Amino acid sequence: MTDALLQVSDLTITVPAGEYGADRRPVVSGVNLQIGAGEALGLVGESGSGKSMTARAVMRLFAPGVQATGTVVFDGCEVFAMEDEQLRLLRAHRIAMIFQDPRAHINPVRTVGAFLIEGLCASGVSTRDAERRVTSLLAEVGISDGSRRMAQLPHELSGGLLQRVMIASAVAMDPDLLLADEPTTALDVTTQSEVMAILAQLRTERGLALLFITHDLELAAATCDSTAVMYAGSIVERQSSRQLLTHPYHPYSSGLMVSRPDLDAVRQRLPVIEGQPIAAFEAGEGCAFAPRCGYSQPACLATTPALVAVQGGEVACHRASELQGQLPTAMEGGGDV
Ligand SMILES: Nc1ncnc2c1ncn2[C@@H]1O[C@H](COP(=O)(O)OP(=O)(O)OP(=O)(O)O)[C@@H](O)[C@H]1O
Ligand SMILES: [Mg+2]
Repeated sequence: MTDALLQVSDLTITVPAGEYGADRRPVVSGVNLQIGAGEALGLVGESGSGKSMTARAVMRLFAPGVQATGTVVFDGCEVFAMEDEQLRLLRAHRIAMIFQDPRAHINPVRTVGAFLIEGLCASGVSTRDAERRVTSLLAEVGISDGSRRMAQLPHELSGGLLQRVMIASAVAMDPDLLLADEPTTALDVTTQSEVMAILAQLRTERGLALLFITHDLELAAATCDSTAVMYAGSIVERQSSRQLLTHPYHPYSSGLMVSRPDLDAVRQRLPVIEGQPIAAFEAGEGCAFAPRCGYSQPACLATTPALVAVQGGEVACHRASELQGQLPTAMEGGGDV
């Protein structure tokens, strides 16, 4: 038993494959993660690694045909076993989600105000009280002219403003956990840091727990208490964010750090992780990352490394103990990945 707010255990997600969808293929494989009340966990990895699928599993939000096994326990309740009403309450009051593209998740022909008050009104709050609460929420996310914005349609707001509206909507019901799936990817750098500052402030003021999904390991580490790195549907490393930045155990984590553009560094060429990321079902024998890894040896291609405890975290790499302290970090740049 655990007293974590969220405990995901051995989560495996499959999608239909084959001509008639009769076969199934894994996109998430044996994922374990936990988040305590008020804690923030970063989930990092390249495209297709299964980050969004993992987040959606927490709310049991699956497209038709998608199946999951394992358990998701939120505040002591098993999400996959919930009755419809319990699930509705979970989604409406306890867990909220924000996405990369706010425009895809807001009705374009209804005003921002109508969108924002609907959840509150549905739970019995009067329209006038809901409007008052939403105006103060908008101020909390840095929109001071809330009444004017509420009368506007979504297309009249910039991407950054609309993401603030989505965040206000997500916290309107005072949830315990916010799932933020690449909330700043579509924004310019300045707006990105404003939105990150708002999320940090909401976390502190409301004691909100956060699952923060991003491609950017350094952004996750700067925002979250701990960070998990995903590759091909599995978690390959998890550590406290501070330690991950200085002492990565997995060559993939190191590669994600050094391939990030750094405006202050003068480099002739940015190091990249050679090759393409893969989904879980594309992984062959051995370590899924081995074909792209500058440190791989024959043993890496033969058997799949298990996620094992190391000092301060967990890692799935046959060579983790040998490579410890040798992998390039964000601070140093460069390297051999
Ligand atoms: N409804 C679906 N049916 C079939 N396959 C799917 C479905 N949704 C996602 N997938 C596949 O599952 C894998 C994991 O997808 P997921 O969206 O979780 O990746 P991600 O890590 O969030 O990637 P990105 O960074 O691009 O958002 C991908 O290979 C994707 O193509
Ligand atoms: Mg995604």
